[in-house]
Amino acid sequence: MKVYRFISYNFKIFKKDEKLFSIEHRGFNYGDGVYETLRVYDGRIFAFKEHLERLKKSLDILKIKFSVNEKKIESEIMKLLKLNRVKNCAVRIVITRGNGLGLPPPKGKPDVSIMLVDIDKKIEEYQKKGIKVIFIENPRLYDFSIRGAKTVNFLPNVLGSIEFEKYGAQEGIFITKEGFVAEGTTSNVFFVKDGVLKTPHLDIGILAGITRKFILDIAKEENIPFEEGFYKKEEVLSADEVFISSTTREIVPVVSINDKKIGNKKPPPFTLFLLSLFKKKILK
Ligand code: PDD
Repeated sequence: MKVYRFISYNFKIFKKDEKLFSIEHRGFNYGDGVYETLRVYDGRIFAFKEHLERLKKSLDILKIKFSVNEKKIESEIMKLLKLNRVKNCAVRIVITRGNGLGLPPPKGKPDVSIMLVDIDKKIEEYQKKGIKVIFIENPRLYDFSIRGAKTVNFLPNVLGSIEFEKYGAQEGIFITKEGFVAEGTTSNVFFVKDGVLKTPHLDIGILAGITRKFILDIAKEENIPFEEGFYKKEEVLSADEVFISSTTREIVPVVSINDKKIGNKKPPPFTLFLLSLFKKKILK
């Protein structure tokens, strides 16, 4: 992943390799912060309102007092798009509790970083050919993190990514200690069985993915039967189709899990139909 040259720190523009943080930065010392990843298509920010709502929710969960000024953030992103001369990229907004050692938070001010990140060129190929995934079955990895908030404390996901890379896969799906299918390291999970679209329930503690919500909205609009539930691995392994969803990867079919092939239709018709409808939403 490449971060584009000009970034914003507390609403001032810097070059990305300038020294910005104090050694007492709480993001660095404690992973004490939240973030969002948004997508820009052809110079337009997709689902800005939804991402900023989730950012506020994450700040609330972490009790970081920061009033999010949507207009200011939007115009800062637009400024960065111009300076970096990009039209298609991801945007990462990170808000941390600022500086100060000692666990009880000091009275210091939170800080905001905004950066543009390039989109993996392989994503289009993944959308056509699908990806390999594995189940990550070490519950300690998943269950100790703060669920529901999008925090920069991303160790379970980093360790999960080491596991799937070692396996030669492109994503890992966490299984909770109760044995339920949860979510990917940076994605939500869906599967299709006998024409019904299924996805893990938010009560499992997964991130309320914005792409996930768009997909469920599409299902409602198209009268596609769907359910959110508590599923065991076996149900997903015997599905007709499986796919993952995220802001950067949109919708990507899964061809195998732990080397077991999923379904027998190539390409998976349901998944690609949903992807085509999702792409229409982007253009709106
Ligand atoms: N990740 N679950 C996790 C753990 C994630 O990190 C993400 C997104 C999702 C999908 O959410 P959304 O559809 O809102 O992107 C689910 C982003 C892309 C990231 O880590 O940069």
